[in-house]
Order: sequence, then C-alpha cells, then structure tokens
Amino acid sequence: MTDGARPLFAANWKMFKGPRETVAFVDEFAARYAARTDRRVAFFPPAISLEAFIRAAIGRPDLEVGVQDVHQEQDGAHTGAVSARMAAEAGAIWALAGHSERRREFGDDDAVVAAKTARILEAGLKPIVCIGETLVEREAGQLRNVLDRQIREVLLDVPGGGLTWAYEPVWAIGTGRTASPADAEEAHALVRRAIAAHGNDDLARSAVILYGGSVKPGNIEELMAAPGVDGVLVGGASLDPESFAAICEVELT
Ligand code: PGA
Repeated sequence: MTDGARPLFAANWKMFKGPRETVAFVDEFAARYAARTDRRVAFFPPAISLEAFIRAAIGRPDLEVGVQDVHQEQDGAHTGAVSARMAAEAGAIWALAGHSERRREFGDDDAVVAAKTARILEAGLKPIVCIGETLVEREAGQLRNVLDRQIREVLLDVPGGGLTWAYEPVWAIGTGRTASPADAEEAHALVRRAIAAHGNDDLARSAVILYGGSVKPGNIEELMAAPGVDGVLVGGASLDPESFAAICEVELT
C-alpha cells in the first residue's frame, strides 16, 4: 500500500443496471456495508444510471460515483457521447479512461486515452487510467513494453499528478482467470517504474495503482496483501451487493 493512501474498492458495472436496478443495488449494498474511514468505495454505473445512483446514495457520502468513459473532446457533434464536464455537472467525482473494453471495442488508442485523461482532469474529475497487456503480448514477453508505452503516452499529455492507475491484464478480465498476487506485485512494480521514468520519483511513489481482473471475495485478501496493490477495480463480482460488500469488507493486513 502506498503510504498514507486509503485503499480504493471500485465497482465497474459496464453495461449492466439501469436506473431501477441501480437503486435496488444501492439500497441493499448500503444495508450490508457500513461506511469505514480506512478505505474508499466508488461505483461506475452506466452514465444513464448516474443520477439514480446519486439520489439513492444521498445519505451515504462515502459511496463515491463516476462514469465509465468520457469523450476526448470538451464538446461537439459526437452523437451518443458524454463529456467530462457533463459528467462532473451531473455529480460524478471519478471517470475511467482506457478500459480494455473501450480500447478493443471502440478503438480507443493510447493517444485517445491520454486526451480523455486530460479532459477528465480539466473537468475536476479524478481519472482512473486503465492499462494492461493482452495474453498474446504477455506470452511474447511484452509486459514491460506495453505498460511502458501506455503510461508514457498518458504522462506526455498529463505530466502532473492526480492520476489513479488500474493495472488490468486483459486475459484476466471477465475470464475467471486472476493474476496471482506475485503477477500483480511484479506488474505494479513495472507500472511504478514506468511512472518514474516518464514522470518522476515523487509521482511514482505517490501513485495509486489498483489491480483489476476477476477479483472476487475468494481472492481479494491475497490480492490486497500483495505489495504495491492499492485497491481493486471489480467488474463481474461488483454486480451483486453481497459479493461486492464482502470484497469491500476485506481485512487489510
Ligand atoms: P472482471 O472485470 O472483474 O469482471 O474481470 C474487471 C474490469 O473489467 O474492470
């Protein structure tokens, strides 16, 4: 754990839960998980459910909320897109950038991810920049190069601090295959090294780096115990209030 940082438990709901299901989730999650001062919890519902989340969580300011994506421009003729400024106005605090599903399905390349990160910061939101290698890249021995390239591109556009990173090996997302704690430790160390190389040592030391990819109640404890893991970004297991509450309640060692 980075000194002084409270671990972050983040729920990426992807294209699940409309406004009604969102309210039902918040009610049940709030009953199962009481606010704790030693950790942070954030949710990324679909943008269309953001307002419902905020209303449902009105009595629970500890449950933070963000959007899963923003457009790389401030505004314009981009049918279907949401800007960072609009997300901030609607009450988001956080925004993801560069999730591997965006990279793969929507063609978000490193330059687009960097531009999105810049818009997120300009709008006063806190970005979580997702990075990680595919199985082909890992097996070709490209882990270090891929992370280095993804981080370099972002830090060229956004040289200051204020970023949270999520290391998400693509082969572990939604597959049930989790990186071992040793894999996570190794990759997080590479991430920190790349941040130092393309930013500086202070930035690397203070960087918050989440792990993501098939995190569940059964593996949260060992993943959080891995050196350099400052929290988690959870997909599938965050859709169920009981399992996400169990993840958020993990004992921290
Ligand atoms: P998963 O997704 O937990 O379902 O593997 C993680 C993510 O995509 O952020």
